[in-house]
Amino acid sequence: MHSIDKLLLENKAWASEKKADDPEYFERLSHLQTPEFLWIGCSDSRVPANEITGTQPGEIFVHRNIANMVIHTDVNLLSVLEYAVAHLKVKHVIICGHYGCGGIKAAMTNHDYKQVLNMWLRNIKDVYRHHRAELDAIGDMELRADRLTELNVQEQVMHLAKTSIIQRAWQQEQRPKLHGWVYGLKDGLIKPVFEMDANTKMDPLYIYDDL
Ligand code: CO
Repeated sequence: MHSIDKLLLENKAWASEKKADDPEYFERLSHLQTPEFLWIGCSDSRVPANEITGTQPGEIFVHRNIANMVIHTDVNLLSVLEYAVAHLKVKHVIICGHYGCGGIKAAMTNHDYKQVLNMWLRNIKDVYRHHRAELDAIGDMELRADRLTELNVQEQVMHLAKTSIIQRAWQQEQRPKLHGWVYGLKDGLIKPVFEMDANTKMDPLYIYDDL
């Protein structure tokens, strides 16, 4: 059997198992989507949001890209953010990076990954540059990449806070809380590294006063 056919076969098995456990399962889910969480994670196949948080379909709204970036011209991410915050009214937005991230490691090299990936990775290089003194002082390259992963998550949380989408929700409803997490591929554990909420002080340059 081809590996792609196995996916469809496994899907059939999964669907009938779910239905056997709970006959109303799909009927109920099809009418209801009220997740409390928006997850912005890395596309890495080893970091599945539902599985590592023990959540079920319907509980987490998910967006993934290389190295869990929040880029202010990314219409895809911003649409997901706006829908999750303004319409689904999520209470928490989680940026979840992971140690051993290929995107982070690639951004630390001087390799030409060709135009499109270079463009994406340059956003991570910018994070490195903001924290160059701290990162350059870490001799072990593995540890340096781990720290860049943490700092990247922190920067992406701050990027969320700079959007009018988040600032409007903070002003009107004091939500969502923003969380920066890093997942460990080697132990399966999530380490919270940074958070922001409606009361966190931020650079006034980015604050909209006429929302
Ligand atoms: Co990754």
